[in-house]
Amino acid sequence: MLAYRHLFHAGNFADVFKHAVIVQLAVLIGRKEKPFLYLDTHAGCGRYDLAHAWAQKNREFENGIARIFERNDCPAPIRPYLDAVHENNPDGKLRFYPGSPLLVCRSLRASDRMALTELNRDDCARLQSHFQSRRRVQIRNMDGYQALKAFLPPKERRGLILIDSSFDRAHEFRRLAEAVIAAHKRFATGVYAVWYPLVEPQAVRDFEQLIVESDLRKVLKLELSVHRGDWQQSLRGSAMLVINPPYGFDTSAAPMLHWLWQALSADAEGRYSIKWLVGE
Ligand SMILES: C[S@@+](CC[C@H](N)C(=O)[O-])C[C@H]1O[C@@H](n2cnc3c(N)ncnc32)[C@H](O)[C@@H]1O
Repeated sequence: MLAYRHLFHAGNFADVFKHAVIVQLAVLIGRKEKPFLYLDTHAGCGRYDLAHAWAQKNREFENGIARIFERNDCPAPIRPYLDAVHENNPDGKLRFYPGSPLLVCRSLRASDRMALTELNRDDCARLQSHFQSRRRVQIRNMDGYQALKAFLPPKERRGLILIDSSFDRAHEFRRLAEAVIAAHKRFATGVYAVWYPLVEPQAVRDFEQLIVESDLRKVLKLELSVHRGDWQQSLRGSAMLVINPPYGFDTSAAPMLHWLWQALSADAEGRYSIKWLVGE
């Protein structure tokens, strides 16, 4: 039984950041005609009811999606993400927050494929219920790191892979680095989006160092922090590595992150950055 439940955190600032990025990646990859596989290794339960007691406990969504839900001045690359959230709230009131599979699925074409894996059995069953009528979606109750071995390389030879661990086990940064490096050996041309929290600074540095010292190339690091607070008190920010970003992504990421930082950083104390962790 896994202790982590994403419903406590759904729609928080870290979700908004990671979801705006993954949707934009799907949009850009879809500009080339050839189909691709979207693999979501830690897929969650699909959709989160923000009125549920767990979501209400800390109301994390208030410092995330609630701050931007009604804004109509976002830069164009954020629009598809916000439109997807609105589609899940057709009466215009924020109640449901869609997880990464539902958000990305809206940007896929009929020829694209999804593979979603989730280790928590109950969450996986809920996830299934959101995709019952959809063909070209495979959902498995399995370990996300095993999924990288099972699904890669995809037959399409094109893929977008989201690795969004819950970081609820010891040594997760090392496990994540090893999994990413191994996955890249199997499928070097895939576009990988790897999310991680900005917690324990030494663990974050060691993780990034393992990536830098590996064979990986073209690794873009995006970071968004919303306050300067002590990482031991509360999550101040998170980062994503985008490996093999599609053409145009680095330029569209700048206005996205600038706007998100302004919207989500209450006291303008946070920061955002975009830099190549490893170049060509
Ligand atoms: C941060 S949540 C993911 C949310 C989802 N990607 C989204 O953005 O909507 C992490 C999920 O990973 C699941 N999980 C934890 N360890 C896992 C593992 N080893 N393999 C697959 N899923 C795992 C948790 O149950 C949780 O639902």
